[in-house]
Amino acid sequence: MDNNLKTILVTGGAGFIGSNFIPYFLKKYEDYTLINLDKLTYAGNTRNLSEVINHPRYIFRQGDICDQVLVSRLFEEFSIEGVIHFAAESHVDNSIKSPESFIETNVKGTFVLLNTAREYWMEAPFKYKSGYEGCRFHHISTDEVYGTLGETGLFTEETPYAPNSPYSASKASSDMIVRSYYHTYGLNVVTTNCSNNYGPKQHREKLIPTIIDNALNAKTIPIYGDGKNVRDWLYVTDHCKGIDLVYHEGDSGETYNIGGRNERENIYIATLICELLDDIASHVKDKSLNSYKELIRHVNDRPGHDRRYAIDATKIETELNWMADENFETGIKKTVEWYVHQFQLERN
Ligand SMILES: NC(=O)c1ccc[n+]([C@@H]2O[C@H](COP(=O)([O-])OP(=O)(O)OC[C@H]3O[C@@H](n4cnc5c(N)ncnc54)[C@H](O)[C@@H]3O)[C@@H](O)[C@H]2O)c1
Repeated sequence: MDNNLKTILVTGGAGFIGSNFIPYFLKKYEDYTLINLDKLTYAGNTRNLSEVINHPRYIFRQGDICDQVLVSRLFEEFSIEGVIHFAAESHVDNSIKSPESFIETNVKGTFVLLNTAREYWMEAPFKYKSGYEGCRFHHISTDEVYGTLGETGLFTEETPYAPNSPYSASKASSDMIVRSYYHTYGLNVVTTNCSNNYGPKQHREKLIPTIIDNALNAKTIPIYGDGKNVRDWLYVTDHCKGIDLVYHEGDSGETYNIGGRNERENIYIATLICELLDDIASHVKDKSLNSYKELIRHVNDRPGHDRRYAIDATKIETELNWMADENFETGIKKTVEWYVHQFQLERN
């Protein structure tokens, strides 16, 4: 193997977080080639990666992580030495309507990747093939595996798993399979469990892009229930920096929670976004509105809607010196500006 240039298989890189991670990683490191394996479901879009499409150390392959033959072929063809696994079905609402693809991609797909990595890198349990000793599998997961919190408390890495939706149950299952590959085979794995991300390139089905998109198109902004559900929001680049740190410096077999200590209620988020839009997008505001806030409507809550998530990020902060650069108010401003710019590009 060429020791100077390492090749990492990134899965799901055309989705929201992966497409923020790939340009960040290629820019920061000169000694990695990234192979992006993405099925391009409705959630993936190669336009998200337009800034790297001609990058000499970036290769895109369309395909399914559940396709064992394809995954093995990629390991052989590119001498894969690391995996950073983002690919997933990721939208809770979809998992309530059609859970099957969540089990298929999130559980079986993770298994196929892990097992291929084990076969390609290891000759026996706890014995890496010569030259493959540094190879690592990084699994990207979510804080939703921990279930829901009351008014107080935080999720730590020790919090017992209690997933409540088919999405979080499928992610919890995949986390457990990753864990088992460490304990049974000695595969060099790390897992990160992150809170809600937001930022550029997120699919329009998710809360923050929906609020912005509906406001700009003068459609009502639906807010589930009383709007007091709390999420711990993290700007996507801060997540990417956490993944980078854990991939390079995290202890094998460990899990790390990533969260920005930015708990905000959904109704606060909707209101703040409308105020920002009143400021920076007043020129495209529908004439019938004084403020975008007039579009906010409360709608029936979704089944199994977790009340509150919040992450205790002490472990990654103290052991790996990770710190979020953005707080919610600085990150959301950048995000709203990005979406307004996209909106204008699409209209012209
Ligand atoms: N978005 C968040 O707030 C958040 C928070 C914590 C953890 N996560 C986790 O981070 C990862 C990425 O999330 P995201 O928001 O970028 O998701 P996303 O839905 O935006 O993107 C998922 C990507 O995976 C691809 N994909 C789906 N099924 C596939 C398959 N079978 N084979 C190959 N590719 C497939 C899609 O085409 C898409 O490009 C997921 O594992 C998710 O569980 C997300």
